Amino acid sequence: MKRKKTEKLNEKDIIAIDVYDHSGKILVKASTPVSSTIIKKLKDYNIPFAYVQDDSFHVSYIFDREDIVQLLRVLWYFVKSNGQNSEILKIYNLDEIRMFAEYNNEVASKIAYGHIFKFFISKLYKKVSETKNFVYDFIDYRVIENYLFFHSVNVAAISILIGCDLGLEEKEIIDLGVGALLYDLSMSLYKFIEQKRPLDAIEKEEMQQHVFMGYDAAKNIYGISSASALIAYQHHERNDGSGYPKKLKDEEISFLTKIVSVADVYDALISNRPFRIAYNSDEAWNYIVDNSGVLFDEKVVDSFKKIIPKYIPGDIVELSDGKKAVIVKNIYNKSEQPVIKLFEKKDKGDIILKEEINLSEKKDIFILRVIETIR
Ligand SMILES: [Fe+2]
Repeated sequence: MKRKKTEKLNEKDIIAIDVYDHSGKILVKASTPVSSTIIKKLKDYNIPFAYVQDDSFHVSYIFDREDIVQLLRVLWYFVKSNGQNSEILKIYNLDEIRMFAEYNNEVASKIAYGHIFKFFISKLYKKVSETKNFVYDFIDYRVIENYLFFHSVNVAAISILIGCDLGLEEKEIIDLGVGALLYDLSMSLYKFIEQKRPLDAIEKEEMQQHVFMGYDAAKNIYGISSASALIAYQHHERNDGSGYPKKLKDEEISFLTKIVSVADVYDALISNRPFRIAYNSDEAWNYIVDNSGVLFDEKVVDSFKKIIPKYIPGDIVELSDGKKAVIVKNIYNKSEQPVIKLFEKKDKGDIILKEEINLSEKKDIFILRVIETIR
């Protein structure tokens, strides 16, 4: 499958992967042929691109979309009800969750949510533990309106991938994933400040309070470990001591937090925000890699580099020999050397040539820069 800009979709295209809104409601199902109604719907929801069926491109999304959609839905209800209404969890046929959701009071709801978060993170972990040498080059349908929820789920996804690559044990991965899901949810209380940059000193101080609120909120959910809650408290600390709230350095920051910090910054950079447009994936990737050992932990960045590719399938790039190419597939631990297809300029625009070139097998050609990307 490949990404295609919403305005370039046409009736020959077939949607390759479910599109859903901020609350996890499906807008367009996979396998639906594109029509003018579908294009209008995507535009109404500000969705800038869709994945369409195309066998020549390979996008690796690893996790079952159904799990991701359900998790988004649960998170949305959790935030909207401030953890007090667990009605939605009754659909999950799990004894503990059903029992506590039945009580329908605040404490029982928090217990039920605690269970459901672990349940989903275990599912994501299971999927990763069955997959070998994964790359993750999928960019979800996040838009400004649903940023917080998609961001939380994607940071959890990337954190789990890095944690698994680093060989963490299952229990640590669950703590990591749950912490990565919850650490920034208190940002939903800062809607006004979220819209603007730069912040003045008072606004900045106010916004920085979200780490304390996030920590308290996470601690209050039954069954959430202190290691998970600590991620909310520390996720803006940086290795060189330039972060907040405590200006902690290197070893003073928990290892799980160091993983989430990398996932958080990368995912935030590749997202459109009210105060800036998204970075290209290669720019966000460079930011993380360039700050290895400075803002971010070196070991964590080494794993990040193996799993998160620099270029996204569909990106058009210029090669060192001056030719143009399109990225068709990424390879584990070869972030800067994907499989490409050369372009040839024809009268009616660019035509993709058929043969693939694996850049990791070519010593003399490398990618110079991205010419065009879809974001
Ligand atoms: Fe934050």
